[in-house]
Amino acid sequence: MKDGVNNFGLQIQNIKELWSLDPDINFLNHGSFGACPKSVLSTQQQLRARLEAEPVRFFTREWESLLDYARNQLADFIGGNEQNLVFVSNATTGVNAVLRSLQFSSDDELLTTNHEYNACRNALDFVANRSGARVTVAKIPFPLESPQEVIKAVLEQLSPKTKLALLDHITSQTGLILPIPELVQELQLRGVDTLIDGSHAPGMIALNVSEIAATYYVGNCHKWLCAPKGAAFLYVQKDKQSMIRPLTISHGANSLRRDKSLFQLEFDWMGTDDPTAYICVPEAIKLMGSLLPGGWEQLRQHNHELVLQGRKLLCDILNVFPPCPKDMIGSMAVIPMPQPWENQDFVSLHDRLLDDFGIELPFIPWQGQPKLLMRISAQIYNSIEEYEYLAKVLRKF
Ligand SMILES: Cc1ncc(COP(=O)(O)O)c(C=O)c1O
Repeated sequence: MKDGVNNFGLQIQNIKELWSLDPDINFLNHGSFGACPKSVLSTQQQLRARLEAEPVRFFTREWESLLDYARNQLADFIGGNEQNLVFVSNATTGVNAVLRSLQFSSDDELLTTNHEYNACRNALDFVANRSGARVTVAKIPFPLESPQEVIKAVLEQLSPKTKLALLDHITSQTGLILPIPELVQELQLRGVDTLIDGSHAPGMIALNVSEIAATYYVGNCHKWLCAPKGAAFLYVQKDKQSMIRPLTISHGANSLRRDKSLFQLEFDWMGTDDPTAYICVPEAIKLMGSLLPGGWEQLRQHNHELVLQGRKLLCDILNVFPPCPKDMIGSMAVIPMPQPWENQDFVSLHDRLLDDFGIELPFIPWQGQPKLLMRISAQIYNSIEEYEYLAKVLRKF
């Protein structure tokens, strides 16, 4: 798509130029690693220059107030209390920090779902194996018709031994928004702590971590917030903070400072590193929120409607049903692939689309029927013509 105008009359080409994205690629996979606008990267570059101009001054006098400001702005954006918030470099690290801080016994059960992200499931298995705890898996049906099916599947897997539930807010493989506020409430009533992997949530859906009140909530800023790579957060309820330690123990552990919690002192400094991705989060929030007159709310709505349009036309072309209701997706959607795609290798399909047609999106093997899913993302730089082009290519495939 070169010069289209979308439903909202936006000049897509101009918007795409705000990113460094290859103009020859139909980039329909914002979901995997996000994409950071040029101006945010330029702010990051300026910060790096400032750091390198006087590294000692930067780390002893400047860095902490910049980080605190970024934390404050992010707390505002996610509806949280900044005292409960720390930066981590990605969601996987945040999930690991929580899981590896907790002690389980061979009597315990750790609950997750069959839609869980592989890396985080591995972390769960690791801590379960180490302690002898058992991982139990709620089987969320897919396709599905309502969030109630998710709640039912999760509650059915509970037992008096369940200590913790690791649940995605938005699933990677199936693009589903799980009913996290309701699930957290139900689980808390039964004395089960919740670790919510909200990797895709910030920027894709309206988020209020205080209202959700999960025990632990992890989110990425480098996906739908469009911050530079290496920016994510961990949000921990106050009464649990003393138990949660970073994966790297550093100066904070024996700090005599009393102006900040040990939780923040430890996570804020895990050894010398480049903190500029964290510090750029306010810039990303501001830039993305300025692209449409209605700010973030309109941006989320725009992306949601665009992905729904894309899903509809692809489902129509492939003659398949959308696998979930519209309000269970944000700006990522999966399309169940029928024959003859179903039995093809997902890596080769991806490579062929990219190499022969300039389309970037993932195919995902799924357990059961459907066996293969195609995931599309919609970000403001995408246009409906890109999904139409994909549909045309698939028809000829
Ligand atoms: C649900 C979910 N959890 C965790 C992650 C991992 O994110 P990161 O690679 O930033 O740690 C992803 C990445 O796509 C994801 O979709």
